[in-house]
Amino acid sequence: MNWSANMPHHDHTPVTVIGLGSMGAALAGAFIDAGYPTTVWNRTTSKAEPLVSKGAVVTQTVREAVAASPFVVVCLSTYDATIDTLEQAGAELAERTLVTLNTGTPDGARRMANWASQHGARFLDGAIKNVPMAVGKPDTLLYYSGDKAVFDEHETALRVLGGDTVHLGEEPDLAALYEMAVGGVLLPSLLAFFQGATYVTARGLRADTLVRYTTKWLEMITSALPHLAKQIDTGDYTGPIGATVGIFEEALVEQRHYGQQERIDISWQAPILDILNRAIAAGHRDHSISALVEVLRKPAQAA
Ligand SMILES: NC(=O)c1ccc[n+]([C@@H]2O[C@H](COP(=O)([O-])OP(=O)(O)OC[C@H]3O[C@@H](n4cnc5c(N)ncnc54)[C@H](OP(=O)(O)O)[C@@H]3O)[C@@H](O)[C@H]2O)c1
Repeated sequence: MNWSANMPHHDHTPVTVIGLGSMGAALAGAFIDAGYPTTVWNRTTSKAEPLVSKGAVVTQTVREAVAASPFVVVCLSTYDATIDTLEQAGAELAERTLVTLNTGTPDGARRMANWASQHGARFLDGAIKNVPMAVGKPDTLLYYSGDKAVFDEHETALRVLGGDTVHLGEEPDLAALYEMAVGGVLLPSLLAFFQGATYVTARGLRADTLVRYTTKWLEMITSALPHLAKQIDTGDYTGPIGATVGIFEEALVEQRHYGQQERIDISWQAPILDILNRAIAAGHRDHSISALVEVLRKPAQAA
């Protein structure tokens, strides 16, 4: 059946959610709360119970779950798990819209898109830039890539999951690419915060005393990003410069001394110091810190 042609495009298209882990359960919950007829399936069936008590229909098989709705959202751990699971739907995926919302590589997203196309499904890949608790909130960011016509057709339903819903482009791996590019900021930022926490707690101070000041510092970093991005995009690291590679190198050497003195493990900074030193060796000492991009573009000898 040609669902896209035959179904009315009202706001409450039936939706199927496959995968009811922390994130998938939040997605299904948001659709139910927004009044969408929602069918769910999970490998471990017991995880469906809270959603059934909210009004979802649970199916015993993937095939039944896919057959229940023209719009199928899948949130499993990986693309491989998604393909393995959806294989069980047989020919049911044909003409339906499939949206995957797991984390993975651009290569995985392209494989997923090819698989969906071979099975006759209209496909979008997406990424959720937030935690399950934030699903359904007006500020929550989700980005998608793939067929823009499919995105436009289902945009109302997709916005149920988060108000900041973006279509990045037609290439199906763009959401995974941006997920890699943006997601990588998280752990180094947290690690730096945790290191700061070791400094103050070693002095008997509470980690929560850091929050106000670290937040302000993160806001400063946020405000610098457009300027740094422009330097990267133009390849000109010599204009008005906030801080040079040389200044960062000196600051990191101070951090290393302090860590050694206080017997705090700052070993995670050693590769960063190596990158700074390679930038200096390449002539970037007096350039903006954004010149590190030039070093990162060339893998280290050992790599
Ligand atoms: N949680 C977050 O904060 C967050 C944020 C952004 C993005 N994400 C992404 O969202 C995706 C799901 O995350 P989650 O937090 O919901 O993970 P989770 O709580 O660990 O749930 C994983 C889900 O995948 C299913 N699954 C795993 N392997 C499977 C297989 N081989 N066959 C069938 N089902 C399989 C699990 O089924 P069972 O219940 O049967 O084990 C469960 O439904 C991940 O890619 C994650 O990176 C998560």
